[in-house]
Formats: sequence, C-alpha cells, structure tokens
Amino acid sequence: MKYVCEMLQIDFPIIQGGMGNISNAQLTAAVSEAGGLGTIGCGTMTPSEVEKIILQTKAKTNKKFAINIAINVSPYTEELIDLVIKHNVPVVSLSAGNPVPFIAKLHEHGVTVIALVASVKHAQKAEAAGVDILVAEGFEAAGINSTLELTTFTLIPQIVKNVKVPVIAAGGIGDGKGLAAALMLGASGVQIGTRLIATKEAPFHEVYKQSLVNASDTETLIVGRSVGMIRRMLKTPYSMKLDEREKEGMTRAQYSELTTEKQHVIGAIEGDMKNGFINSGQIAGLIDHIPYVKELIESMIEEASNQISHSKSELDFMIHKQSNKK
Ligand SMILES: Cc1cc2nc3c(=O)[nH]c(=O)nc-3n(C[C@H](O)[C@H](O)[C@H](O)COP(=O)(O)O)c2cc1C
Repeated sequence: MKYVCEMLQIDFPIIQGGMGNISNAQLTAAVSEAGGLGTIGCGTMTPSEVEKIILQTKAKTNKKFAINIAINVSPYTEELIDLVIKHNVPVVSLSAGNPVPFIAKLHEHGVTVIALVASVKHAQKAEAAGVDILVAEGFEAAGINSTLELTTFTLIPQIVKNVKVPVIAAGGIGDGKGLAAALMLGASGVQIGTRLIATKEAPFHEVYKQSLVNASDTETLIVGRSVGMIRRMLKTPYSMKLDEREKEGMTRAQYSELTTEKQHVIGAIEGDMKNGFINSGQIAGLIDHIPYVKELIESMIEEASNQISHSKSELDFMIHKQSNKK
C-alpha cells in the first residue's frame, strides 16, 4: 500500500477538514504550506465564489490542496466537479452523500478522490467504486455528523480491517497524542477541524476561537437527533435555544431553517452567539492556546513521534519483565 503522503504529495499526513462557507484561502494555504493538505470547503457556495477561493489559494501556495464538496448540501455538485477539473485541483473530498457517481469522471482527469464515511458498509461501497482514500469520521467530530453515532476509536479499526485503501481518521483529534493514537488504530493519517478553528490564520471571529480555548470537555451539544439530521455545536445561547425548541417538538423543515449556512456565518464569522451557531467537536476541551498553523502541525508531528517512542519503550519494558519472570 502506498503512503498517503506519497499519494497526496504532502509532507505530513494531516488534512484540513472542509469547512464550507466560512473558511478561506488563507487557512487552506497555511495548512498546505505547513506540510499538510489544506482544503477549500464549498458548503453551499456558488461555483464562481469557489473559483475565486481556488485562485486566491493558488496565489498563496504552490503546494497541493483539496476541495471538499458536501454532495447533498451543495446545490452545485456537478458544476463544482467541473470546476475542480478546469483548475486542475489535485484532490477532491466528497462528503454528505453518495460519492459513487462522481469517481470515474474525476479519475479520468487524474484527480485523487477522498470519500468521507462513517460505517464499514459505506467504506466498502466507496472502495468498491474506486475511491483512493477514505476519511472515516467518528461522532466526536464538529458539524454535520452521521446518525450512526460510531466513535472514532471504534470506527477506525473496523474500517481498516475491512478495506485495502488508506484510511484517515477524523473526529476528536487535536494534538500529537491523538495523531499517534489514530496511527496505532491503523489509520494512515488524520483529518482535523475543531483544532484548526483556534489558529491565528483561521478567518473566524475571536469570540469563536476564544470560546474553544475556554471550553471544557462537556461543552458540545448534539442537535437534530429527533429529525435525523445531526450536528455537533458548541453550547451557546443559540444552540441551547435550538435544543429547547427540539425538546418541545420541531419538524425537519423547522430545524433546517434554524441551521442554515446563514446562521453558521453569523456565529462563526460575526461572533454573534445569540443569533448564530458555531460547530465544535468534543476535543474542544483540549484546546488551550491559539498557535500559527505551522506551529500546530509541527508540534503534532513531534508529539506523535515522542508518544509512539514512549509507548514502545513502555511495552518493551513490560514484555522484558514478563520474559524475565519465566
Ligand atoms: C466549522 C466547521 C465546519 C465544517 N464543515 C464541513 C463541511 O463543509 N464539509 C465536511 O465534510 N465536513 C465539515 N466539517 C467537519 C470537518 O471537515 C472534519 O471532518 C471534522 O471537524 C473533524 O473532527 P474534529 O472537529 O473533531 O477535528 C466542519 C467542521 C467544522 C469545525
């Protein structure tokens, strides 16, 4: 099996999760320049809005980057696929929908295809259809989540056991120990979202970044369970109100109206916690400072390497002790 770093032509196996509508070229370029794979999240943006960000990203970096298309979220999936091909974007990640119809066309144009999955069944289906890399996302993750609710720790080894393509772990990874753990579970790398919000280059409101720094381990909330559309947010006045409305009984249409990209922008970009929401994963409690992306990625690699060496010596010591007893 090829290493993902070779397949994606990057230095470190750390991928920026797509963050539709709210991220920008600066963050994408910062992740790629730091040796990871930056990603432009399309969300519900029009092809011309996305094209502008592609050109801005190319002006900031010559490194590889990806485009994330959330299939059932975007009204423009077909056009965005054409845009990827037009601009020779080397990698596409497909989430929130069935990736199968798009894989052959992307491959014809030499694009590496990543599919986001949350179960063994979907992973096998995507692999059979020819995806190059899988991102397996656990329930710890920020934002729109699978209703299957499998956690990263259980999902990764089960998917790794059942497919041959490389698997990237997403959901709940915020430092080098998390990266090391993902590698130990058999993943080939990680995709991170929440941890990248609280970085200097991220284009989000200071209130959002600071809320993650201040958050404790129990400060996220799942909304939308009752209508089968799950999203993990930080506890804020808006998400608490949403939670109350849900408990009182809410239709799927009402829920959708209260969780549009408009309210996402109001929370994440404008920092208005009463009228908009902010996504956050369960790893928020680990975040205690706002570094540059390069510092974050380098520290994750160093910490992962140290942790793996430390765990290996602990294991060797135990094995040695046991064999001495015999
Ligand atoms: C603000 C924000 C917006 C997100 N938007 C998208 C999106 O548009 N498409 C997508 O596939 N995933 C989206 N995600 C999920 C991330 O791409 C990533 O898989 C996830 O954040 C990983 O889990 P973590 O938050 O625990 O690191 C978003 C996450 C965040 C934090």
